[in-house]
Amino acid sequence: MSDWAALEAHPGSSLTELFQAEPDRLSRLVVEEVGLRFDFSKTHLDHALLDGFAALAEARDLPGRREALFRGEALNATEGRAAEHPAERGHGAPESVHRAQTLHLRMRALIDAIEAGAFGPVRHILHIGIGGSALGPDFLIDALGRDAGRYDSAVVSNVDGAALEAAFARFDPTATLIVIASKTFTTSETMLNAESALTWLEEDGVDDPYGRVIALTASPERAIEWGVDETRILPFSETVGGRYSLWSSIGFPVALALGWTEFEELLEGAAAMDRHFRLAPPLQNAPVLAAFVDRYYANLRGAETRAVFAYDERLRLLPSYLQQLEMESNGKSVTLSGEPVGRATAPITWGGVGTDAQHAVFQLLHQGTHLVPVEFVAAIEPDHALDPDHHRQLLTNCFAQGAALMAGRRSDDPHRSYAGDRPSTTILMDRVEPASLGALLAFYEHRTFANAVLLGINPFDQFGVELGKEMAKAMDSGGLQFDASTEALMAHAFGDEF
Ligand code: F6P
Repeated sequence: MSDWAALEAHPGSSLTELFQAEPDRLSRLVVEEVGLRFDFSKTHLDHALLDGFAALAEARDLPGRREALFRGEALNATEGRAAEHPAERGHGAPESVHRAQTLHLRMRALIDAIEAGAFGPVRHILHIGIGGSALGPDFLIDALGRDAGRYDSAVVSNVDGAALEAAFARFDPTATLIVIASKTFTTSETMLNAESALTWLEEDGVDDPYGRVIALTASPERAIEWGVDETRILPFSETVGGRYSLWSSIGFPVALALGWTEFEELLEGAAAMDRHFRLAPPLQNAPVLAAFVDRYYANLRGAETRAVFAYDERLRLLPSYLQQLEMESNGKSVTLSGEPVGRATAPITWGGVGTDAQHAVFQLLHQGTHLVPVEFVAAIEPDHALDPDHHRQLLTNCFAQGAALMAGRRSDDPHRSYAGDRPSTTILMDRVEPASLGALLAFYEHRTFANAVLLGINPFDQFGVELGKEMAKAMDSGGLQFDASTEALMAHAFGDEF
């Protein structure tokens, strides 16, 4: 790929040198949008690298691909369909936007019906789904639902019965709404959890268990076949990918738990980020700059991971959400045309919550041998009434980590030396609220897309997860011979049953 040659030849300077040589770094590398401040200044992107990446983006036709995304063209070539999550926020082909709005109205009507008592008493929401059908609702309800107090919700994804049992122990079956979220309505973990939830209702004497079930799916015919009444199915489009589906009816428990106005604010925040991604020039465009940072460290500096630390309890599930979004989208080895991609694709996304992580994994970030680009996400406004010192300390810890990673400190004692020059990005939110979270998640979606365009890969399929699923099914039904190690594990766990 000759487009990369100029970037690869670039000698590079240290972060401290860059701040000295480029006094305008802050004004160029800080982007403020929708109540979010993205600070890319503590990364090694200098003028030359930025120009090089902008040229690469042009050569890869990022502007054209982006327009094709918003026009609803079939960008997901391997599955022959579009990726129309922006249409859920009002940006896309007019017919897709209209369809999404119609489905949103249906969702709202069902929420109104629940609140008007059509389902009898509802105090608990048991949301069953996995991957993209769980991570977004779980993150948002956890982040924003703490004070909403409208319903007590649980998101259960794991097929481990212990997860479901914990929800059963908390909830009254006669006041629980079961929400089954599955784009395909075939995912084995979700279907088994759904069966068990139905049995729980039946065994506890709920007269019409199916009457307390709502299905969120792009395969309504399968939900009907399973037993859900059509009036309680909230469909969404096949062209909305699982990990991009939070904005569709998969967001139903979010809208129910937080309120419809809040759900609309979430969509509006995302729509504002869509506009920014679509219209801002590349060097002032937060998702595009973030993708340049990702590509620089993964492809030119050999970083194999990137770490995200949420300095806010409300955002503690953000790293898990991003793991699916980034790794399921861009964890690929071949280009759109099926050729080996020839360079590193998605780094491994990992992370945690600050300040806890400082006392667990930051040793490696400061003195370890791996280069790990770090991302800090924090909010200026706290969510508690305790002494303001709590929040002040939270934020000073966050900012101090970025400063320490960059500055380092020399010592005659090698054990007490910090090399420094370690990069970080900081995303500072004014406050954690539906609009800013909508914008934040849309930022991550577009960053993921921009990365995929720079690499020439398809971020919208996920064939990599299929083989393991097939093998688990084959193992369950028996009759297939596996390798010696796997056969021995099965024999050890199940005895002669298999
Ligand atoms: O196994 C991967 C995956 O297909 C994800 O892409 C998806 O979000 C998840 O499983 C759940 O799928 P579904 O919504 O169809 O149950």
